[in-house]
Amino acid sequence: MIIAIDGPAASGKGTLARRVAEAMDYAYLDTGLLYRATGAKVLAENGDPADEAAAVAAAENLSASDLEGEALRSEEVGTAASKVAAIPMVREVLLDFQRTLATTPPGGKRGAVLDGRDIGTVVCPEAPIKFYLTASVEERANRRFKQLQEKNPAAIYERVLKELEERDARDSARDVAPLKMADDAIHIDTDRLNANAVFDAVMAHIHTHM
Ligand code: C5P
Repeated sequence: MIIAIDGPAASGKGTLARRVAEAMDYAYLDTGLLYRATGAKVLAENGDPADEAAAVAAAENLSASDLEGEALRSEEVGTAASKVAAIPMVREVLLDFQRTLATTPPGGKRGAVLDGRDIGTVVCPEAPIKFYLTASVEERANRRFKQLQEKNPAAIYERVLKELEERDARDSARDVAPLKMADDAIHIDTDRLNANAVFDAVMAHIHTHM
């Protein structure tokens, strides 16, 4: 059983996907982390995330330890991630890992929850249950800003908003696997819903479709 959860940056899909995986006792994969780790690796070597050779080499050399650490969550790494993610070869390199985890979840789990941008359209088009989360860019910037402010009181809302807008534009405009809702996905607009309400709606849908 595969559950796909896609949506733009800061739409709440990560929190939701983690909770759903826990409730179902499924494996969970935050696929954004693969692109973030690739982008971070290029930055750490003072490379340009938009440089194909550097980005592909970083993706090919990812190891489990590269996927850990708070530093991967920064907007700077998010921006680098969306640059490496626009390179077709990078996506190709990361595809196998995602499909293998989805079809043969580790730890003998009976299913997997994957969140990202192209899970329902490209990585697991056959997933029987797909959700597509959206929220206005202002609402998403607001949520991200509040998270950032807890760690860094000097965080600036306008900057967070601008970075999200740029990332949305890059993720939606790219030629390969752009951010797009799958035809058979359930759309949930989270602007007026808190995380609990989204979780309850999603779990109700899962239970009626299994
Ligand atoms: O979801 P997150 O913000 O961690 O993703 C970081 C970046 O990785 C996104 O902006 C997007 O460019 C890329 N990504 C992707 N496909 C996915 C997951 C993430 O292109 N399935």
